[in-house]
Amino acid sequence: MPFDNNERTAQRSRMLGGFSPDDVGQSFTLVGWVHRRRDLGGLLFVDLRDRSGILQVSFGPDWTDPDSFGLASGLGAEDVISVQGRVERRPTPNPELPTGEVELRAERLRRLNSAVTPAIPVYRAPDEELPSEERRLRYRYLDLRREELQRALVLRHRLVLEVRNYLDGLGFVEVETPILTKPTPEGARDYLVPSRLHPGEFYALPQSPQLYKQILMASGLDRYFQIARCFRDEDLRADRQPEFTQIDVEASFVDPKDIFRWMEGLMLALARIARVGGSAPFPRLAYDEVMERFGTDRPDLRYDLEIQDWTRALADLDFKILQAAVSEGGRIRGLALTGGAKLSRREIDGLEQTARRAGAPGLLWVKRTEDGGSGPLARFMQTEHYQALGMEAGDLALVSAGPGRVTSPSLGAVRVIAAKLLGLPVVREAAWLWVTDFPLFEQDEDTGALIPGHHPFCLPHSEDLERLEAEPLAVRSHAYDLVFNGTELGSGSIRNHDAGIQTRILRLLGMHDDEIERRFGFLLEALRSGAPPHGGVALGMDRIVKHFAGARSLREVIAFPKTTAARALFEGAPTPLAEDELRELHLRPASVDKG
Ligand code: AMO
Repeated sequence: MPFDNNERTAQRSRMLGGFSPDDVGQSFTLVGWVHRRRDLGGLLFVDLRDRSGILQVSFGPDWTDPDSFGLASGLGAEDVISVQGRVERRPTPNPELPTGEVELRAERLRRLNSAVTPAIPVYRAPDEELPSEERRLRYRYLDLRREELQRALVLRHRLVLEVRNYLDGLGFVEVETPILTKPTPEGARDYLVPSRLHPGEFYALPQSPQLYKQILMASGLDRYFQIARCFRDEDLRADRQPEFTQIDVEASFVDPKDIFRWMEGLMLALARIARVGGSAPFPRLAYDEVMERFGTDRPDLRYDLEIQDWTRALADLDFKILQAAVSEGGRIRGLALTGGAKLSRREIDGLEQTARRAGAPGLLWVKRTEDGGSGPLARFMQTEHYQALGMEAGDLALVSAGPGRVTSPSLGAVRVIAAKLLGLPVVREAAWLWVTDFPLFEQDEDTGALIPGHHPFCLPHSEDLERLEAEPLAVRSHAYDLVFNGTELGSGSIRNHDAGIQTRILRLLGMHDDEIERRFGFLLEALRSGAPPHGGVALGMDRIVKHFAGARSLREVIAFPKTTAARALFEGAPTPLAEDELRELHLRPASVDKG
């Protein structure tokens, strides 16, 4: 390829990452960004970077033409350049760099674009900290030049590709469903879009494609999937973004075991790409059982630590809090931590804070020592109590008393933190699990009203159907979650294909028939028109990539994420609208309270 100093476009022989001693002696035209420039007594070295890696380029008066050498001495960080030269062995190889055995001896240089001083550095010394996340999100195009972020995006691409191939292989068809739609209840608020053509009317952005995928089953599509963008206006936490991506799946004539089998195969195929472990079948535990044993519906099964029921073992302990809890119908439950006596008072106080944050009034504890014990319960403990709890000297018991809705979340929250503090061994690196048979309904703590356990479309167990109205909170559903190392990665259920059962559930959720008709009439109509039995699942793509990439937050695996305040800092969204723009949408300016 001829090298033309005045050419405005640039071509390259190849990318930078793969150079090795095999290339020595050959000439190339290479392009990239100036990652770092060093001047060493008459020689200039540039680390040239592109997506595939870094290659050292050297400029020296003996092999670089004089104009190019002059240009090279003025290069700044993040300038974009083209260099022509020959690959040679490096006199001092750099074992840290995959291309570190060779360098390009530059004969000619062309600057394709110059860069202003980067607002955040792309090159960092090994011990240099990252700038604040806010600055990195503001200058996202620079942050995205970082290798970690590029690697995460490439991994994401490869996983999405595998999802498509894998599901296609099972006969699933990808169908796009609308973004401008009607509210789809998934428990969050909707993002709404005003209609210009229909004054006072709004589209909702989908919280998920739930209703459309069910209608596709009624349409006879049989097996559907979509890499689907979902929008939820909810309080953001570390594992949530206002817009995120699901691997959304639905199939006709299936039971949960089919979904489990397919999704296990899919997850393990993805895990192989990311070099994460696991083997099928994943354990399947009912909701009641995981709450009893682990205190949460997304237990981290990397640790073999289970909640114990000590109601009988400690029944005669003369300790008021315990006795009161039991006489009110509660239980005494706890965690026995072998070797836990080495936890400090501060660490135990920290665990108590965790239990309080999870809604417990406190956390009791006792350490067994050679000559007795210590902690709030120690005074009341006899040898037989320690024995009943299976405690030896050096062990610690953490104890919570009360109804399950208090003891489970608090012990569930303390369990993993205590295991980590104690350095308990990880019994499996990749702990996969299905949690099944979720309750169909939960109760809103403030209002007492019934709310869906998952969403309103899950099928109740047939043996529980007759008590749907009488004892709704006791009804189990065919809903399941996929859990990985203590995180919910996916969720699904078998649906109501019977419009009658679906209507009964919507009524129990407090909807009148006219509201049911207005909000879900189109779904019920489709169910009544010969909908097959069907079910499915949605897996959180962002969460999968985050966990597989070992990233700290979802923001590291999404190219242009939002902050926890749901702002896009780089492009600047949301933005206020001018009055005439509002008028066109039939909206009035809000009087924004800046106080
Ligand atoms: P669900 O609401 O449980 O189920 O969502 C399924 C999965 O999507 C991911 N997820 C999120 N990821 C990032 N940010 C968020 N704000 C967010 N919310 C959810 C999680 C979750 O497990 N329609 C049903 C699925 C079904 O029944 O088929 C649904 O959307 O990983």
